[in-house]
Amino acid sequence: MPHRYRRLRRTAAIRGLVRETQLTPQDLLQPFFVVDGKNKKETIDSMPGIGRYSIDLLLKEVEAYVRLGGKGGIFFGVSSQKDNTGKYAYAAGSPVVAAIKAVKRHFPDFCVVTDVCLCAYMTHGHCGIVQNQQIDNDKTLPVLAKMALSHAQAGADIVAPSDMMDFRVAAIRQALNKENFQDVGLLSYAVKYASAYYGPFREAAHSAPGFGDRKTYQMDPANSREALKEALQDLDEGADMVMVKPALVYLDIVNLLRRKLHMPIVAYNVSGEYSMVKAASRQGWIDERTLVLETLTSMKRAGADIIISYHAKDALKWIE
Ligand code: PBG
Ligand code: ZN
Repeated sequence: MPHRYRRLRRTAAIRGLVRETQLTPQDLLQPFFVVDGKNKKETIDSMPGIGRYSIDLLLKEVEAYVRLGGKGGIFFGVSSQKDNTGKYAYAAGSPVVAAIKAVKRHFPDFCVVTDVCLCAYMTHGHCGIVQNQQIDNDKTLPVLAKMALSHAQAGADIVAPSDMMDFRVAAIRQALNKENFQDVGLLSYAVKYASAYYGPFREAAHSAPGFGDRKTYQMDPANSREALKEALQDLDEGADMVMVKPALVYLDIVNLLRRKLHMPIVAYNVSGEYSMVKAASRQGWIDERTLVLETLTSMKRAGADIIISYHAKDALKWIE
């Protein structure tokens, strides 16, 4: 007999009982941008509600987030010092190193994840060492390892390489283990596509490539087979979790990895996805709250265990 589906949709209580996917505060990581200096809060035009903070004001932001039930964040350094070696990425005085120490001192239970990549520290804005206009994979590996190590030494719980050089997971894992940081976690941006959805982030992090694009290291949006292979290889090299990025137009990939891998999967709801929602919301064209919860829930339904989102703080207020 054909079923009368509307019976289980009749009241909010019944709908709640049969709901399959529940978004919770534990699933979310909020990105934070950190700059040098004091008393700084710089707004980012393309990302309303997101700022770049100096450590003192960053702590206030993290505190507000923790008060709402937030459990962790991913931290990005925005560097005024840039060169062609990437040495500011692992400098003792880097804003992100200071941020890790300060956040861990004030909020020891807060999960501190750090982005590991060179683009914000390079004059040319690429994610690796550049020689003759080429991004040199193997020369980049030791620099990334030093950067990850500097974050571990500062107290990071998890380091998250986003550069897309091959073999960087192994290089970082080895460097961490050698210095007795075998308990520091490694979240690999394993499946990171060369995406136009990163546009607003590059304004936020001052990390746009000065020449060319990132297509020789980030993945082709048309491909899914290599997504699985990249993820498997990174797990083999020592990653604890793998990420798919961006999230929304790649939920097929999130689901593919969910079905094939027995490891936590992370979806990154990136800057362009956030900015589009904000823009439409400001026009009054969509209901932001409902749309954000629907969007984040779709990522969980697709199979993400963890969602990195600029909406995380708002979502904490809105989750029922
Ligand atoms: C740096 C990095 C990027 C993002 C995270 N880490 C940008 C890029 O690869 O150009 C994108 C995040 C976002 O768009 O929110 N490698
Ligand atoms: Zn980068």
